[in-house]
Amino acid sequence: MANYYAMTRQELEEEYQKEYAHFNACKEQNLNLNMARGKPSNDQLDLVINMLRTLNDAQACVSDDIDVRNYGELEGMPCARAYWADMLDCKPSQTFVGGVSSLNLMFDVISRAYTHGLLHSPKPWCKEDKIKFLCPSPGYDRHFRITEFFGIEMITVAMTDEGPNMDQVEEYVQDPCVKGIWCVPKYSNPDGIVYSETTIQRFANLKPAAPDFAIMWDNAYCVHEFRGEYKPFPDIIRLCEQAGNPDMVYEFASTSKITFPGSGICVLACSEENIAYFSKLFSVQMISNDKVNQLRHVLYLKDKEHTLKIMQKHAKILRPKFKVVSESLHRMIQPCGFGRWNEPKGGYFVSLYTMPGTAKRALALCKEAGVTMTPAGATYPYGIDPDDSNIRIAPSLPPVEELEKAMDVFCTCLKIAAIEKLLK
Ligand SMILES: Cc1ncc(COP(=O)(O)O)c(C=O)c1O
Repeated sequence: MANYYAMTRQELEEEYQKEYAHFNACKEQNLNLNMARGKPSNDQLDLVINMLRTLNDAQACVSDDIDVRNYGELEGMPCARAYWADMLDCKPSQTFVGGVSSLNLMFDVISRAYTHGLLHSPKPWCKEDKIKFLCPSPGYDRHFRITEFFGIEMITVAMTDEGPNMDQVEEYVQDPCVKGIWCVPKYSNPDGIVYSETTIQRFANLKPAAPDFAIMWDNAYCVHEFRGEYKPFPDIIRLCEQAGNPDMVYEFASTSKITFPGSGICVLACSEENIAYFSKLFSVQMISNDKVNQLRHVLYLKDKEHTLKIMQKHAKILRPKFKVVSESLHRMIQPCGFGRWNEPKGGYFVSLYTMPGTAKRALALCKEAGVTMTPAGATYPYGIDPDDSNIRIAPSLPPVEELEKAMDVFCTCLKIAAIEKLLK
């Protein structure tokens, strides 16, 4: 296999015939493989199944003199607030524990900002002429869908190896219409980038023109190393407080990739003033969250130290899958001279940049051959990747043997799309 850019037209055509024959052979196998979403595998779900055994009598349902089976404790069970404070290195009083998933809480924060405004909003966002949000990209498609849902204009900010391009961020926040930014500070989705200390400090010290500027700090992968040691991470709430911006940050996390996605517990962590403000707004919507699940989680996960031990077991299952992705790309794509990708140490994704102008075509071919991927463009605001190049690979769900097959099909499709582009 040689570098595609160095091949003659005839060599490219021959390579095309060869790869297309392989593609057709794969198609005939009627595959049904999925590398689309960051779902834990069955092995991972089985790993934590004993959590369901923790609450099996009435006595066990009482913690801190609170019976979790009844109404109350809107902000969350004291033990669950203490758990998240330990996980995120903040204070229990700075946490609001929710149920199901953190995306709910993110949606709720933006939706309250829209209807009622945030703590320092001069007026609800729906009454503003124009609202804009900064979207470091590639990023998480569901963040972008929330801001798009509320008609908020999204501005793409470039990602660097240290996190979002902070020169751009600092410049954009001079505009009072810019009301916030989406951030995944640790093992960003999809690039797997960990924000540097400098980036984090620059965030805490932002001086936005909008008094209600919101840093949506989605720390979804706060304990999710699958290679190497756990990397401690600064408490953004304290840093913002020290910088004179105590109410600017809203941090989110959940147990979705620790226990059961969609049936876990989640947290909004922010200043005590923000907790009080949001508790009042949320009290219209609910009397309390699912405290049974909160207690179940705390009894099983215990604290950060014990959670990290469980994460090592997840890591053992995830590591070989990320290895398959890396080895497949090195073997099948690297010699062709196009494409680059990250080698993350945590999180759930590999972010691949294929030959510009070919991502959509490659994924259409994948679909034809029975391999489902996150749609091309999904990692950018409005689903438009200006380079048509970024593809998010989510290797966690399929067993290793299926993943090997899926990567073989995927790389073949990348090559076919690249050759078609070169032949044009
Ligand atoms: C960055 C990020 N945030 C949030 C989520 C979803 O979290 P939850 O299940 O808590 O809504 C994901 C899932 O892929 C994610 O990648």
